[in-house]
Amino acid sequence: MTPRVRRVAIIGVLCFGAALAADNLEGLRGPTPLNQEPKAPRMATVENFDVRRGRAYTSQPPTIPHAIDRYELTRNVNFCMYCHSRVRNEEFGAPMVSATHYMDRDANFLAEISPRRYFCTQCHVVQTDARPPVDNRFIDVYDLVEQEQQVADPPAPAAKEKKE
Ligand code: HEC
Ligand code: HEC
Repeated sequence: MTPRVRRVAIIGVLCFGAALAADNLEGLRGPTPLNQEPKAPRMATVENFDVRRGRAYTSQPPTIPHAIDRYELTRNVNFCMYCHSRVRNEEFGAPMVSATHYMDRDANFLAEISPRRYFCTQCHVVQTDARPPVDNRFIDVYDLVEQEQQVADPPAPAAKEKKE
């Protein structure tokens, strides 16, 4: 092959590869080609059912079971703590923020919410009716451990009935 022919061949292979990749390209934006604008998906509705959801793993910040759009959360005002602080939660029937929220980074307990936990929505999100845009293949660690135990120690086969 002359260098020129080789160059053309390489470009050809690259283009073919790119075309293949583009065909399979289906990210969060869906199958719309990159040079077109897809229709914006419907915005998820915030649920306000007061039903606490379970947690997928031990250290998961629980989701917020109520709407928060009217609660001010700024540098000067933290309205969440109006209900969730230790001193007021009882009055509102709200769960108290856990002790970790009062700890500084040296694990000392403070009288007020720790600056590390001041902006609640950094970690806690409202509950919505959004559908996951991609498959969720998360496996709970509890199920993982159970699966491993079954592999290590399979259940005994059912005892055969004795012939008389
Ligand atoms: C008017 C009082 C009030 C305010 C203000 C408030 N909450 Fe709540 N929150 C509650 C109550 C009551 C519950 C218990 C469940 C329910 O009734 O919705 C709760 C539940 C929660 C939970 C669930 C805890 C769990 O263990 O599942 C989280 C997280 C939460 N709130 C976060 C927030 C955040 C973040 C803000 C501010 C943006 C906020 N809340 C503002 C009253 C309040
Ligand atoms: C840096 C992340 C982070 C921030 C910021 C944060 N939280 Fe949490 N929150 C967590 C995690 C993680 C948990 C669960 C483990 C724990 O209790 O520490 C939790 C637990 C909670 C719980 C449940 C407590 C219980 O015992 O069931 C409530 C209520 C809560 N947070 C409210 C708040 C509020 C209100 C704010 C803002 C003032 C806030 N959180 C800020 C991470 C955070």
